[in-house]
Amino acid sequence: MLDLILAVAHHILIFSLFGVLFAEFLLVRPGLDPAAVRRIAAVDLWYGITAGLIIVIGFSRALFAAKGWLYYSHNFFFWAKMGTFALIGALSAWPTIRYLRWRREGFIPDADDVIRVRQFLWAQVALFPLLLISAAAMARGYGEML
Ligand code: HEM
Repeated sequence: MLDLILAVAHHILIFSLFGVLFAEFLLVRPGLDPAAVRRIAAVDLWYGITAGLIIVIGFSRALFAAKGWLYYSHNFFFWAKMGTFALIGALSAWPTIRYLRWRREGFIPDADDVIRVRQFLWAQVALFPLLLISAAAMARGYGEML
């Protein structure tokens, strides 16, 4: 039962994270005014909350449910998924730094600044399918290491 609850929570959070990321991708475009910047910074807070919960629920699954830590810690696709997740997290830092700066200073960001942030958002969207591929592979026993 614990496994089922954690699996459901994991999936809901993953869809939420992608939704938040995609919302940022749609909202961040040249010509932002201070009200739009405040909205984007608020959306970005949900990015952080959702990602944090995914880490908590994900590690709970790996440690206490499903197949046990020994299974995952010896699986290549588990570590590929962790690495991709860490990379996406690192790529999310620059947009967050810019949103906070734009909001604090209350100015209208110039087009170059916005385009740079969009590149970071694009990279995260592009990497997302790798998480799903690694997850499906690890769940089915591919990538087992000795
Ligand atoms: C946004 C990031 C993540 C995405 C998109 C994601 C995606 C998925 C998906 C789609 C599954 C179901 C695989 C299947 O049954 O076919 C899954 C399972 C799982 N995920 Fe994640 N995950 C993420 C983050 C994490 C993190 C941070 C952990 C931490 C350890 C984690 C641990 C697990 C575990 C233990 C399973 C169970 C696999 C099994 O059934 O054996 N996930 N994940």
